[in-house]
Amino acid sequence: MITFNEKTKVFTLSTNKTSYAFGLLDDKLLVHLYWGKKLTNEINENWKDEFCSRSHSPFDYGEYSTNFMPLEYSQYGGGDSRICDFSAVYSDGSRVTKADFKNYEIIDGKPEIEGLPSVYAEKGDKVSTLAVTLFDKLKNLEIILYYSVFEEFDAITRSVKIVNNGETMRINSVLSGSVDFFGAPKSDIIHLDGTWARERFVTRNEIAGGNTSIQSNVGVSSHFYNPFIAVCDSDTTELCGNAYGFGFVYSGSFIAGTEVNAYGTIRAYMGINPREFEWVLQNGESFSSPEIILSYSNEGLSGMSRVFHNVIRNRVSKGKYRDIERFALINNWEATYFDINEEKIVNIAKKAKEIGIDTMVLDDGWFGTRSNDKSGLGDWVENKDRLPGGIKGLAEKINGLGMNFGLWFEPEMVNPDSDLYRAHPDWIIHTKGRTPSQIRNQLTLDLSRKDVCEYVENAVGNILENANVSYVKWDMNRTMSEVGSALLDAEHQGEVMHRYMLGLYSVLGNLTKRFPNVLFEACASGGGRYDCGILQFMPQVWTSDDTDAVERIKIQYGTSFIYPYSSMGCHVSACPNHQIGRTTPFDYRCNVAIPGQFGYELDLNKCTDEELQIAKKAVEDYRRLGEIFHKGDLYRISSPFDSDVSVNEFISKDKNTVLVCIYPKTSIVAAKDTYIKLAGLDETASYELDGKIYGGDYLMNKGIWYCNDFEYKSKILELNKK
Ligand code: GLA
Repeated sequence: MITFNEKTKVFTLSTNKTSYAFGLLDDKLLVHLYWGKKLTNEINENWKDEFCSRSHSPFDYGEYSTNFMPLEYSQYGGGDSRICDFSAVYSDGSRVTKADFKNYEIIDGKPEIEGLPSVYAEKGDKVSTLAVTLFDKLKNLEIILYYSVFEEFDAITRSVKIVNNGETMRINSVLSGSVDFFGAPKSDIIHLDGTWARERFVTRNEIAGGNTSIQSNVGVSSHFYNPFIAVCDSDTTELCGNAYGFGFVYSGSFIAGTEVNAYGTIRAYMGINPREFEWVLQNGESFSSPEIILSYSNEGLSGMSRVFHNVIRNRVSKGKYRDIERFALINNWEATYFDINEEKIVNIAKKAKEIGIDTMVLDDGWFGTRSNDKSGLGDWVENKDRLPGGIKGLAEKINGLGMNFGLWFEPEMVNPDSDLYRAHPDWIIHTKGRTPSQIRNQLTLDLSRKDVCEYVENAVGNILENANVSYVKWDMNRTMSEVGSALLDAEHQGEVMHRYMLGLYSVLGNLTKRFPNVLFEACASGGGRYDCGILQFMPQVWTSDDTDAVERIKIQYGTSFIYPYSSMGCHVSACPNHQIGRTTPFDYRCNVAIPGQFGYELDLNKCTDEELQIAKKAVEDYRRLGEIFHKGDLYRISSPFDSDVSVNEFISKDKNTVLVCIYPKTSIVAAKDTYIKLAGLDETASYELDGKIYGGDYLMNKGIWYCNDFEYKSKILELNKK
């Protein structure tokens, strides 16, 4: 619900459990007042007394100094010395923006953001949107702030639209929003960082003075930092305390962080990275920012994550596969790498079928001259030496086994050694006069261009049209460098990265509409583009190229801070593991992968009978338990980063079924007793575990006995309410 109280001048946005409020000061300035646990009473007029004049700061708003006020949307030039949401250069060279409150509107439901993915409302959802217009009279510029309130999901989304009715101007920063926190005496910032094969490790630091930011400036959300931050009280744990999450619905360069002012207010911000962005707006044009999802919970970090999980799996991801059980697949990449032919793929599929796998995915190497990563990328024509019947013929053979067929593409890229590059050398992202750097021997196609988007869409579309493909792995294996486009003039070169994203989203939008029965899975050298933007089109992402089970526990743990397990592609691979050389038991690898979107990444023909039995049971478990892993609530009971045993609990929404995943990463002989305290159970009910009955309150307050005395003794415990 959204209200504006004319008397107190307070806007209040309420979800079932949270409130977010800001006040209108002197009918001009929007001042942030509150975000947290739901308020039962309205904020009264006295809110203005909380602010006083401060020295050494401009006093443009009566006695209030902008530099120290908690602002809803800060603009550069009026004396706010912190990171500002908006800054622009006008036709006269001036850089000052002063847009004050003009009016507001409350709309039922939620408007789409043109050209960009965004959280959507479905019929029957309690969703309303507040649009507040700020107006800079001198420049005839409007800044419209959008807040959508998803009441049942306890989430609020924010985005901004800039409308220029004045002379041509250049935006050089337009963040999607910031929240000026009053915070706890001590607060922490959490972010997810890493690199290839080590994505989304959790970093938690105290918010000290100054600015702490994470960013991507490489045109994709990236392995290095994920477009997510959380701010929490320093004593917030996984299960209790205040946690405020920010997730960005965008897959390109971004910035997010916190800045503390001299009086202790924290500004948490998120948006397109201004360092890689400029946008020219002519008279009559507008620019829309991507959206932020705000998630607050007083049930700790797991509570914050549950809000994100519910929103992402239900109102970010779209299409047929959003709600239904997905595939149990086998992918040939780690089994064969580039050394493929039809016979090998069919043999891998046959064995997989025997243990209940339903989908065979053919990875890289099936097209053009692609027998390694040096050539052929971009030439999406089957290699008939390897696949005599083409993709169509192979798909038929796989279908003949009673399985679905899936296929790998990397449509956004090109090898310089390819027919496509030879025909269109200007189709790549590049800067005139500079040698374009290569990553994995490849260059990025310039999706800021319409003609390139059309090529990509047709190349993929033609294959999908002609063969029975049920699943696409959409890969993207490099970041951007030497960014520029052959088609844009000097003035517009700063727009390339964002235009690329608009191009990509349009291609993905068209293809997913045209092929509604195809399940698309995103990949970017593993999890290099794992974000809420991509999840709108593809409900799952190949979580990491690191398939080692011990490392995967950490990667999946960090990923779950914002993304649900239903979005994580998790496969069992061979040992010794190809990335790290470690050997773990087969059942351990299965238990780590089962909660995600499960599959195999090996040749089952090389497994022992005992391994095949475990492999078969894992497929059965995945099918039987998937509903709870993918639609239930997650409680992270203990972290792989700071304990020897990592525990995740998943509980069905009706609290009837509880799954407890226990993964020791190292064990000791004669280990001490441990009790794993569960959370979120019905405390008055009894639960059955292995034929024995326990009280819900006993399980939460004393816990389940566990002894970590044998290396890699993983378990998935199933408890059922009696
Ligand atoms: C990337 C992906 C892998 C695999 C290879 C193929 O590295 O992350 O899973 O598909 O490309 O070249």
